[in-house]
Amino acid sequence: MRSSLSSGGTDLHLELPATGSRRAALAGALRDAVRDGRLAPGTRLPPYRALAADLGVARNTVADAYAELVAEGWLTARQGSGTRVADRVVPGRPAARRATAARQAPAAAVVHNLRQGQPDATAFPRTAWVGAVRRALSAAPNDAFGPGDPRGRLELRQALADYLARVRGVRTTPANIVVCSGFAHGLRLLFGGRVLRGPLAVESYGLAFHRALLASAGVRTLPIGLDANGSRTTELPARGGPSAVLLTPAHQFPTGGPLHAERRAGVVDWARGRAGLVLEDDYDGEFRYDREPVGAVQGLDPSHVVYFGSASKSLSPAVRLGWMVLPDHLVDEVLRAKGEREAWAGVTDQLTLAEFITSGGYDKHIRRRRQIYRARRNRLVEALAAHAPHITVTGIAAGLHAVLRLPPGTEAATVEAAARAGIALDGLAAFRHPDATEATPHADGLVVGYAAPTDNGYPRALDALLRVLPAKGA
Ligand SMILES: Cc1ncc(COP(=O)(O)O)c(C=O)c1O
Repeated sequence: MRSSLSSGGTDLHLELPATGSRRAALAGALRDAVRDGRLAPGTRLPPYRALAADLGVARNTVADAYAELVAEGWLTARQGSGTRVADRVVPGRPAARRATAARQAPAAAVVHNLRQGQPDATAFPRTAWVGAVRRALSAAPNDAFGPGDPRGRLELRQALADYLARVRGVRTTPANIVVCSGFAHGLRLLFGGRVLRGPLAVESYGLAFHRALLASAGVRTLPIGLDANGSRTTELPARGGPSAVLLTPAHQFPTGGPLHAERRAGVVDWARGRAGLVLEDDYDGEFRYDREPVGAVQGLDPSHVVYFGSASKSLSPAVRLGWMVLPDHLVDEVLRAKGEREAWAGVTDQLTLAEFITSGGYDKHIRRRRQIYRARRNRLVEALAAHAPHITVTGIAAGLHAVLRLPPGTEAATVEAAARAGIALDGLAAFRHPDATEATPHADGLVVGYAAPTDNGYPRALDALLRVLPAKGA
């Protein structure tokens, strides 16, 4: 099967084998064409329908192949400008252009995205979401399209109160929930909006982006140590110092363990004892694989915990919807920080998520993704056992990433080797608080996100990863 693409002056001859998966063959042919420079950066690809007709394949086959290459970083898709070849270093293209590109970006193009934190972008439940949009908008009263209530739509807050009680053990009512555009926005409201002030105790490993956000709000962050039982909440001072602590209790980010039951209870006692607060970032609590989910700390004492949830891992980080479950005494203050009208979360998305949750679509999507991510995690663990048994893997009971423990002193070189091989991932050092002390021994490791690649791309990403891991005794 052949086709010639004619786009922006570029003619391209594509030839697909007569047998096997059409989608895989088309994705492979396009990947090769980008890799060897026949499709130049910026080139616009034909619409699905046109290429499908040319090749004699279904429209969805082309759509899926494009989506796979978008997720892998070969193509970009923008509303209004169609699907184009990504603007990046393309190995194998003519020497003069390669030299300029090499000066700008010494690492190879990202071929395998193993960054933590990103769910598979091709798995967004488009059809079910469209159905939920239609139902939600048909049922919405006219006042939904007037200026928005800064708490968020009641339909969504009610759906979240029920869902979080059922799935995460959160105890709340819609009156204590404030919708926001994600965890980062919630942090901005609390600290940028001066609802809370620093210093803030934080885990010794976390996202540098969140620390930077706090720093820009003038908040000093003080790291507490980490051991086999999770963050050492026992180090928190009974008097003086920080009166709030930010934790990821269900799945320490990114090292992966849950906070030990005694520490969960202990940190709530600590907050009670000094009129303090636990800020609970429950970023991937639904993705737990081997045992019952670890419930939210919030359920132990709703008046001393601020609970944050987000659709970023469960659906997509592009949806930009999150929620804060607040103790009574903080609700008005957070609303003051948010302003008189909703300026962040669009009403269509809020109503759609409410409908998606109450109709069971959200549970179904999460159940399905959980199965797929569990299988990917198992595949990672099995591949390491078979090909790199000297590398242990931790933090695998939950979430969308695992930590590969590396021989001492090999982390930086391994991250560099991965970048040269086109693998995007981070070492543990990227997450370590700059003031972390010896109580948190620095260990070499790779944080491997197994959710971001497509189903087809994942085995190749894993093979590429195995090739850059340090040898035994390195
Ligand atoms: C540790 C952690 N917390 C929270 C979030 C969610 O952030 P947001 O809701 O701002 O996308 C993420 C990323 O998805 C994360 O990695």
